[in-house]
Amino acid sequence: MTALPNERTCPFDPPPGLAELRAHRPVARVTLPAGGEVWLVTRHDLVREVLADPRWSSSTDGGFGPDQPLRAITPEPGMFIDMDPPEHGRYRRLLTPHFTVQRVNRFRPGIERIVAERLDAMERLPRPVDLVAEFALPVPSMVICELLGVPYEDRSAFQDAARTFADLGSSQGEIEAAMARLAAYLAKRVAAERDEPGGGLLGELARREDLTDEELVNIAIMLLIAGHETTANMIGLGALLLLHRPDQLARVREGAQGAADELLRHLSIVDLVMFRMAKEDLVLGGQEIKAGEFALTSLSAANRDPALCPDPDRLDVTRPKTAHVALGFGPHQCLGQNLARLELEIALQGLLRRFPGLRTAVPPAEVPVRENAAIHGLVALPVTW
Ligand code: HEM
Repeated sequence: MTALPNERTCPFDPPPGLAELRAHRPVARVTLPAGGEVWLVTRHDLVREVLADPRWSSSTDGGFGPDQPLRAITPEPGMFIDMDPPEHGRYRRLLTPHFTVQRVNRFRPGIERIVAERLDAMERLPRPVDLVAEFALPVPSMVICELLGVPYEDRSAFQDAARTFADLGSSQGEIEAAMARLAAYLAKRVAAERDEPGGGLLGELARREDLTDEELVNIAIMLLIAGHETTANMIGLGALLLLHRPDQLARVREGAQGAADELLRHLSIVDLVMFRMAKEDLVLGGQEIKAGEFALTSLSAANRDPALCPDPDRLDVTRPKTAHVALGFGPHQCLGQNLARLELEIALQGLLRRFPGLRTAVPPAEVPVRENAAIHGLVALPVTW
Protein backbone atom coordinates (compact mmCIF):
# COMPACT_ATOMS: atom_id res chain seq x y z
CA MET A 1 0.00 0.00 0.00
CA THR A 2 1.32 3.45 -0.91
CA ALA A 3 1.82 5.93 1.95
CA LEU A 4 0.32 9.38 1.36
CA PRO A 5 3.08 11.60 -0.07
CA ASN A 6 2.51 14.55 2.25
CA GLU A 7 5.94 16.05 2.89
CA ARG A 8 7.09 19.01 0.86
CA THR A 9 10.84 19.03 0.23
CA CYS A 10 10.58 22.56 -1.20
CA PRO A 11 8.13 25.00 0.46
CA PHE A 12 6.89 26.14 -2.96
CA ASP A 13 6.26 22.78 -4.58
CA PRO A 14 3.89 19.84 -4.01
CA PRO A 15 5.28 16.83 -2.12
CA PRO A 16 7.35 14.62 -4.42
CA GLY A 17 5.41 11.54 -5.40
CA LEU A 18 2.14 13.27 -6.25
CA ALA A 19 3.10 13.92 -9.90
CA GLU A 20 3.89 10.24 -10.40
CA LEU A 21 0.53 9.22 -8.93
CA ARG A 22 -1.30 11.81 -11.06
CA ALA A 23 0.27 10.38 -14.24
CA HIS A 24 -0.25 6.69 -13.45
CA ARG A 25 -2.82 6.24 -10.68
CA PRO A 26 -4.90 9.43 -10.41
CA VAL A 27 -7.30 7.71 -8.00
CA ALA A 28 -4.97 5.72 -5.72
CA ARG A 29 -5.56 3.90 -2.45
CA VAL A 30 -3.12 5.35 0.12
CA THR A 31 -2.53 5.09 3.87
CA LEU A 32 -2.71 8.20 6.04
CA PRO A 33 0.09 9.09 8.50
CA ALA A 34 -2.25 8.37 11.44
CA GLY A 35 -3.44 5.11 9.88
CA GLY A 36 -6.57 4.48 7.83
CA GLU A 37 -6.93 4.34 4.08
CA VAL A 38 -8.38 6.81 1.59
CA TRP A 39 -8.63 7.32 -2.15
CA LEU A 40 -6.13 10.03 -3.08
CA VAL A 41 -7.29 12.06 -6.09
CA THR A 42 -4.57 13.96 -7.95
CA ARG A 43 -5.77 14.76 -11.51
CA HIS A 44 -7.28 18.21 -12.11
CA ASP A 45 -10.46 16.99 -13.84
CA LEU A 46 -11.05 14.29 -11.20
CA VAL A 47 -10.44 16.65 -8.25
CA ARG A 48 -13.06 19.00 -9.71
CA GLU A 49 -15.39 16.05 -10.28
CA VAL A 50 -15.20 15.03 -6.60
CA LEU A 51 -15.63 18.59 -5.32
CA ALA A 52 -18.66 19.30 -7.53
CA ASP A 53 -20.48 15.94 -7.25
CA PRO A 54 -23.24 15.89 -4.58
CA ARG A 55 -22.67 12.15 -4.10
CA TRP A 56 -19.54 13.12 -2.16
CA SER A 57 -20.27 14.46 1.34
CA SER A 58 -18.35 17.21 3.16
CA SER A 59 -19.53 16.00 6.56
CA THR A 60 -16.21 14.41 7.46
CA ASP A 61 -13.57 15.07 10.04
CA GLY A 62 -10.02 14.22 11.00
CA GLY A 63 -7.62 11.79 9.44
CA PHE A 64 -4.27 13.44 10.06
CA GLY A 65 -3.60 14.38 13.68
CA PRO A 66 -2.61 11.65 16.12
CA ASP A 67 -6.02 11.64 17.82
CA GLN A 68 -8.13 12.38 14.79
CA PRO A 69 -9.78 9.33 13.30
CA LEU A 70 -11.31 9.82 9.87
CA ARG A 71 -15.05 9.74 10.36
CA ALA A 72 -18.40 11.02 9.20
CA ILE A 73 -19.75 13.81 11.41
CA THR A 74 -22.98 15.66 12.02
CA PRO A 75 -22.17 19.32 11.36
CA GLU A 76 -22.70 21.89 14.11
CA PRO A 77 -25.44 24.45 13.34
CA GLY A 78 -23.92 27.18 11.17
CA MET A 79 -20.70 25.29 10.29
CA PHE A 80 -21.65 25.15 6.66
CA ILE A 81 -18.18 24.09 5.47
CA ASP A 82 -19.13 20.65 6.87
CA MET A 83 -22.61 20.60 5.34
CA ASP A 84 -24.02 19.19 2.13
CA PRO A 85 -26.72 20.66 -0.07
CA PRO A 86 -29.47 21.65 0.56
CA GLU A 87 -28.61 22.75 4.19
CA HIS A 88 -25.31 24.21 2.97
CA GLY A 89 -27.09 26.45 0.45
CA ARG A 90 -29.18 28.19 3.10
CA TYR A 91 -26.07 29.67 4.74
CA ARG A 92 -24.24 30.32 1.49
CA ARG A 93 -27.20 32.34 0.15
CA LEU A 94 -27.13 34.41 3.31
CA LEU A 95 -23.40 35.17 3.11
CA THR A 96 -22.53 35.23 -0.59
CA PRO A 97 -23.98 38.76 -1.13
CA HIS A 98 -21.45 40.05 1.44
CA PHE A 99 -18.48 38.64 -0.49
CA THR A 100 -19.16 39.60 -4.12
CA VAL A 101 -16.48 41.48 -6.07
CA GLN A 102 -18.49 44.72 -5.71
CA ARG A 103 -19.02 44.34 -1.95
CA VAL A 104 -15.43 43.36 -1.32
CA ASN A 105 -14.17 46.28 -3.42
CA ARG A 106 -15.75 48.61 -0.89
CA PHE A 107 -13.07 47.34 1.50
CA ARG A 108 -10.26 48.41 -0.83
CA PRO A 109 -9.59 51.75 0.90
CA GLY A 110 -9.75 50.04 4.30
CA ILE A 111 -7.30 47.32 3.23
CA GLU A 112 -4.99 49.92 1.68
CA ARG A 113 -5.03 51.87 4.95
CA ILE A 114 -4.29 48.76 7.03
CA VAL A 115 -1.43 47.73 4.70
CA ALA A 116 0.06 51.25 4.74
CA GLU A 117 -0.12 51.41 8.55
CA ARG A 118 1.61 48.06 8.93
CA LEU A 119 4.32 49.11 6.46
CA ASP A 120 4.85 52.36 8.38
CA ALA A 121 5.21 50.37 11.60
CA MET A 122 7.64 47.95 9.94
CA GLU A 123 9.76 50.82 8.66
CA ARG A 124 10.24 52.12 12.20
CA LEU A 125 11.51 48.76 13.55
CA PRO A 126 15.17 47.80 13.86
CA ARG A 127 16.18 45.42 11.09
CA PRO A 128 15.94 42.51 10.47
CA VAL A 129 12.16 42.42 10.80
CA ASP A 130 10.02 39.28 10.89
CA LEU A 131 7.68 39.79 7.95
CA VAL A 132 5.30 37.09 9.19
CA ALA A 133 4.76 38.60 12.66
CA GLU A 134 4.82 42.24 11.57
CA PHE A 135 2.95 42.11 8.29
CA ALA A 136 1.66 38.79 6.90
CA LEU A 137 -0.30 37.88 10.04
CA PRO A 138 -1.63 41.28 11.22
CA VAL A 139 -2.96 42.41 7.82
CA PRO A 140 -5.56 39.63 7.32
CA SER A 141 -6.33 39.68 11.07
CA MET A 142 -7.17 43.36 10.95
CA VAL A 143 -9.14 43.00 7.73
CA ILE A 144 -11.32 40.13 8.96
CA CYS A 145 -11.83 41.89 12.32
CA GLU A 146 -13.01 45.06 10.53
CA LEU A 147 -15.22 43.07 8.19
CA LEU A 148 -16.91 41.22 11.04
CA GLY A 149 -16.89 44.13 13.46
CA VAL A 150 -14.75 42.31 16.05
CA PRO A 151 -12.32 44.58 17.97
CA TYR A 152 -8.77 43.93 16.75
CA GLU A 153 -7.54 44.13 20.37
CA ASP A 154 -9.27 40.76 20.90
CA ARG A 155 -7.37 39.05 18.09
CA SER A 156 -5.28 36.77 20.33
CA ALA A 157 -8.45 34.77 21.03
CA PHE A 158 -8.73 33.65 17.44
CA GLN A 159 -5.08 33.75 16.36
CA ASP A 160 -4.34 31.03 18.94
CA ALA A 161 -7.32 29.01 17.83
CA ALA A 162 -6.44 29.34 14.14
CA ARG A 163 -2.91 28.12 14.84
CA THR A 164 -4.15 25.15 16.83
CA PHE A 165 -6.54 24.12 14.05
CA ALA A 166 -3.94 24.46 11.33
CA ASP A 167 -1.30 22.48 13.25
CA LEU A 168 -1.65 18.81 12.39
CA GLY A 169 0.23 17.95 15.59
CA SER A 170 -2.60 19.35 17.75
CA SER A 171 -4.43 16.66 19.66
CA GLN A 172 -8.21 16.38 19.55
CA GLY A 173 -8.24 17.71 23.14
CA GLU A 174 -6.21 20.79 22.19
CA ILE A 175 -8.45 21.48 19.22
CA GLU A 176 -11.59 21.15 21.34
CA ALA A 177 -10.17 23.43 24.05
CA ALA A 178 -9.17 26.10 21.49
CA MET A 179 -12.61 25.88 19.90
CA ALA A 180 -14.30 26.23 23.31
CA ARG A 181 -12.25 29.37 24.15
CA LEU A 182 -13.06 30.93 20.80
CA ALA A 183 -16.75 30.02 21.06
CA ALA A 184 -16.95 31.54 24.56
CA TYR A 185 -15.38 34.77 23.33
CA LEU A 186 -17.65 34.97 20.29
CA ALA A 187 -20.76 34.15 22.32
CA LYS A 188 -20.05 37.35 24.27
CA ARG A 189 -19.58 39.33 21.03
CA VAL A 190 -22.79 37.93 19.56
CA ALA A 191 -24.73 38.84 22.73
CA ALA A 192 -23.35 42.40 22.48
CA GLU A 193 -24.28 42.61 18.76
CA ARG A 194 -27.81 41.34 19.48
CA ASP A 195 -28.24 44.11 22.09
CA GLU A 196 -26.80 46.80 19.90
CA PRO A 197 -25.99 45.68 16.34
CA GLY A 198 -22.82 47.30 15.01
CA GLY A 199 -21.92 48.16 11.43
CA GLY A 200 -19.87 45.00 10.71
CA LEU A 201 -21.06 41.75 9.15
CA LEU A 202 -21.68 40.24 12.59
CA GLY A 203 -23.95 43.18 13.43
CA GLU A 204 -25.85 42.72 10.18
CA LEU A 205 -26.33 39.01 10.81
CA ALA A 206 -27.32 39.70 14.44
CA ARG A 207 -30.29 41.70 13.15
CA ARG A 208 -31.75 38.54 11.59
CA GLU A 209 -34.23 36.53 13.58
CA ASP A 210 -33.84 33.39 11.47
CA LEU A 211 -30.33 32.73 12.84
CA THR A 212 -29.82 31.36 16.35
CA ASP A 213 -26.98 32.59 18.58
CA GLU A 214 -25.26 29.23 18.14
CA GLU A 215 -25.42 29.54 14.34
CA LEU A 216 -24.06 33.07 14.52
CA VAL A 217 -21.16 32.01 16.75
CA ASN A 218 -20.26 29.15 14.43
CA ILE A 219 -20.45 31.30 11.31
CA ALA A 220 -18.14 33.83 12.99
CA ILE A 221 -15.69 31.09 14.04
CA MET A 222 -15.55 29.81 10.50
CA LEU A 223 -14.99 33.22 8.94
CA LEU A 224 -12.32 34.20 11.48
CA ILE A 225 -10.38 30.99 11.05
CA ALA A 226 -10.84 30.47 7.31
CA GLY A 227 -10.04 34.10 6.53
CA HIS A 228 -7.01 34.41 8.74
CA GLU A 229 -4.33 31.73 8.57
CA THR A 230 -4.85 31.12 4.84
CA THR A 231 -4.29 34.68 3.68
CA ALA A 232 -1.48 35.23 6.19
CA ASN A 233 0.39 32.19 4.88
CA MET A 234 -0.13 33.26 1.27
CA ILE A 235 1.37 36.71 1.99
CA GLY A 236 4.42 35.27 3.80
CA LEU A 237 5.14 32.38 1.46
CA GLY A 238 4.24 34.48 -1.61
CA ALA A 239 6.73 37.17 -0.57
CA LEU A 240 9.48 34.58 -0.07
CA LEU A 241 8.79 32.99 -3.46
CA LEU A 242 8.94 36.38 -5.19
CA LEU A 243 12.23 37.20 -3.46
CA HIS A 244 13.60 34.05 -5.13
CA ARG A 245 12.24 35.14 -8.51
CA PRO A 246 13.26 38.77 -9.19
CA ASP A 247 11.78 38.73 -12.71
CA GLN A 248 8.36 37.78 -11.33
CA LEU A 249 8.74 40.17 -8.39
CA ALA A 250 9.28 43.07 -10.81
CA ARG A 251 6.02 42.22 -12.60
CA VAL A 252 4.06 42.06 -9.33
CA ARG A 253 5.49 45.42 -8.29
CA GLU A 254 4.37 46.83 -11.64
CA GLY A 255 0.86 45.60 -10.87
CA ALA A 256 0.54 42.43 -13.00
CA GLN A 257 -3.14 41.50 -13.19
CA GLY A 258 -3.79 37.94 -12.09
CA ALA A 259 -0.59 37.65 -10.02
CA ALA A 260 -2.61 36.69 -6.93
CA ASP A 261 -4.24 33.77 -8.75
CA GLU A 262 -0.95 32.53 -10.15
CA LEU A 263 0.64 32.63 -6.69
CA LEU A 264 -2.38 30.79 -5.27
CA ARG A 265 -2.11 28.15 -8.00
CA HIS A 266 1.63 27.73 -7.70
CA LEU A 267 1.79 27.51 -3.91
CA SER A 268 -1.51 25.63 -3.25
CA ILE A 269 -1.15 26.27 0.48
CA VAL A 270 -4.36 24.38 1.28
CA ASP A 271 -3.57 20.83 0.24
CA LEU A 272 -4.29 17.26 1.30
CA VAL A 273 -6.85 18.36 3.89
CA MET A 274 -10.06 18.29 1.91
CA PHE A 275 -11.74 14.97 2.61
CA ARG A 276 -15.02 13.84 1.14
CA MET A 277 -17.05 10.67 1.85
CA ALA A 278 -18.93 8.71 -0.84
CA LYS A 279 -22.64 8.67 -0.01
CA GLU A 280 -23.29 5.84 -2.47
CA ASP A 281 -21.36 3.40 -4.64
CA LEU A 282 -19.87 5.29 -7.57
CA VAL A 283 -17.14 5.25 -10.21
CA LEU A 284 -14.40 7.89 -10.32
CA GLY A 285 -11.90 7.89 -13.18
CA GLY A 286 -12.73 4.23 -13.87
CA GLN A 287 -12.18 3.27 -10.21
CA GLU A 288 -15.10 1.73 -8.32
CA ILE A 289 -15.69 3.39 -4.95
CA LYS A 290 -17.98 2.02 -2.26
CA ALA A 291 -20.42 4.03 -0.17
CA GLY A 292 -18.75 5.14 3.08
CA GLU A 293 -15.22 5.27 1.62
CA PHE A 294 -13.24 8.51 1.88
CA ALA A 295 -11.42 10.52 -0.77
CA LEU A 296 -8.71 13.09 -0.21
CA THR A 297 -8.17 15.68 -2.93
CA SER A 298 -4.72 17.07 -3.65
CA LEU A 299 -5.19 20.65 -4.77
CA SER A 300 -1.44 21.07 -5.35
CA ALA A 301 -1.32 18.05 -7.69
CA ALA A 302 -4.39 19.28 -9.56
CA ASN A 303 -2.89 22.77 -9.89
CA ARG A 304 0.33 21.39 -11.42
CA ASP A 305 -1.51 19.09 -13.83
CA PRO A 306 -0.14 19.57 -17.38
CA ALA A 307 -3.77 19.33 -18.54
CA LEU A 308 -4.54 22.58 -16.66
CA CYS A 309 -2.01 24.90 -18.32
CA PRO A 310 1.24 24.81 -20.27
CA ASP A 311 4.41 24.40 -18.19
CA PRO A 312 2.46 24.09 -14.90
CA ASP A 313 5.56 23.95 -12.65
CA ARG A 314 6.69 27.41 -13.80
CA LEU A 315 5.58 30.52 -11.90
CA ASP A 316 4.34 33.06 -14.44
CA VAL A 317 2.40 35.94 -12.92
CA THR A 318 1.42 37.12 -16.41
CA ARG A 319 -0.14 33.76 -17.27
CA PRO A 320 -3.69 33.93 -18.68
CA LYS A 321 -6.37 32.98 -16.15
CA THR A 322 -6.43 29.26 -15.32
CA ALA A 323 -9.16 27.07 -13.82
CA HIS A 324 -6.98 26.37 -10.75
CA VAL A 325 -8.53 24.83 -7.64
CA ALA A 326 -6.43 26.54 -4.93
CA LEU A 327 -9.68 28.06 -3.62
CA GLY A 328 -11.62 24.82 -4.01
CA PHE A 329 -14.37 24.11 -6.53
CA GLY A 330 -18.09 23.42 -6.55
CA PRO A 331 -20.58 24.42 -3.85
CA HIS A 332 -17.88 24.90 -1.17
CA GLN A 333 -15.56 27.00 -3.33
CA CYS A 334 -13.99 29.61 -1.04
CA LEU A 335 -16.56 32.13 0.12
CA GLY A 336 -13.82 34.69 0.78
CA GLN A 337 -12.01 34.32 -2.55
CA ASN A 338 -12.61 37.88 -3.78
CA LEU A 339 -11.42 39.25 -0.47
CA ALA A 340 -8.38 36.94 -0.47
CA ARG A 341 -7.35 38.07 -3.98
CA LEU A 342 -7.77 41.73 -3.08
CA GLU A 343 -5.79 41.40 0.17
CA LEU A 344 -2.99 39.54 -1.57
CA GLU A 345 -2.74 42.05 -4.38
CA ILE A 346 -2.73 45.10 -2.09
CA ALA A 347 -0.39 43.54 0.49
CA LEU A 348 2.25 42.24 -1.93
CA GLN A 349 2.25 45.28 -4.21
CA GLY A 350 2.36 47.60 -1.19
CA LEU A 351 5.25 45.70 0.37
CA LEU A 352 7.34 45.53 -2.80
CA ARG A 353 6.76 49.19 -3.67
CA ARG A 354 7.58 50.42 -0.16
CA PHE A 355 10.81 48.42 0.11
CA PRO A 356 12.46 48.19 -3.32
CA GLY A 357 15.55 46.64 -1.73
CA LEU A 358 13.62 43.97 0.26
CA ARG A 359 15.62 40.79 0.81
CA THR A 360 15.75 37.85 3.21
CA ALA A 361 18.03 38.46 6.19
CA VAL A 362 19.03 34.78 6.50
CA PRO A 363 20.14 32.22 3.89
CA PRO A 364 17.04 30.80 2.13
CA ALA A 365 17.53 27.35 3.64
CA GLU A 366 17.27 28.86 7.13
CA VAL A 367 13.79 30.36 6.69
CA PRO A 368 11.67 28.24 9.07
CA VAL A 369 8.82 26.47 7.31
CA ARG A 370 5.76 25.27 9.22
CA GLU A 371 6.11 21.51 9.40
CA ASN A 372 3.12 19.31 9.95
CA ALA A 373 0.62 22.03 9.13
CA ALA A 374 -2.75 21.78 7.45
CA ILE A 375 -2.07 25.06 5.69
CA HIS A 376 1.42 25.54 4.29
CA GLY A 377 3.34 28.59 5.33
CA LEU A 378 6.31 30.04 7.17
CA VAL A 379 6.95 30.26 10.91
CA ALA A 380 8.90 33.48 10.39
CA LEU A 381 10.52 35.41 7.54
CA PRO A 382 13.41 37.63 8.64
CA VAL A 383 13.81 40.42 6.08
CA THR A 384 15.85 43.55 5.65
CA TRP A 385 16.00 46.29 2.99
C1 HEM B 1 -5.54 32.90 0.30
C2 HEM B 1 -6.44 32.66 1.04
C3 HEM B 1 -7.45 31.52 1.02
C4 HEM B 1 -7.35 30.24 0.54
C5 HEM B 1 -6.16 29.57 -0.13
C6 HEM B 1 -8.64 29.60 0.80
C7 HEM B 1 -8.95 28.31 0.42
C8 HEM B 1 -10.20 27.73 0.58
C9 HEM B 1 -10.58 26.42 0.10
C10 HEM B 1 -9.65 25.48 -0.66
C11 HEM B 1 -11.88 26.21 0.44
C12 HEM B 1 -12.72 24.98 0.11
C13 HEM B 1 -12.96 24.06 1.30
C14 HEM B 1 -13.75 22.82 0.96
O1 HEM B 1 -14.20 22.61 -0.18
O2 HEM B 1 -13.93 21.99 1.87
C15 HEM B 1 -12.32 27.39 1.17
C16 HEM B 1 -13.57 27.54 1.72
C17 HEM B 1 -13.93 28.61 2.50
N1 HEM B 1 -13.21 29.79 2.69
FE1 HEM B 1 -11.39 30.21 1.95
N2 HEM B 1 -9.45 30.51 1.43
C18 HEM B 1 -8.78 31.69 1.58
C19 HEM B 1 -9.25 32.87 2.14
C20 HEM B 1 -10.47 33.02 2.73
C21 HEM B 1 -10.98 34.24 3.32
C22 HEM B 1 -10.24 35.57 3.35
C23 HEM B 1 -12.20 33.93 3.86
C24 HEM B 1 -13.20 34.76 4.63
C25 HEM B 1 -13.35 35.92 4.78
C26 HEM B 1 -12.48 32.53 3.58
C27 HEM B 1 -13.61 31.85 3.95
C28 HEM B 1 -13.94 30.59 3.52
C29 HEM B 1 -15.18 29.92 3.90
C30 HEM B 1 -16.27 30.47 4.80
C31 HEM B 1 -15.17 28.68 3.26
C32 HEM B 1 -16.25 27.61 3.30
C33 HEM B 1 -17.18 27.77 2.13
C34 HEM B 1 -18.26 26.74 2.05
O3 HEM B 1 -18.16 25.67 2.64
O4 HEM B 1 -19.26 27.01 1.35
N3 HEM B 1 -11.40 32.02 2.88
N4 HEM B 1 -11.28 28.31 1.22
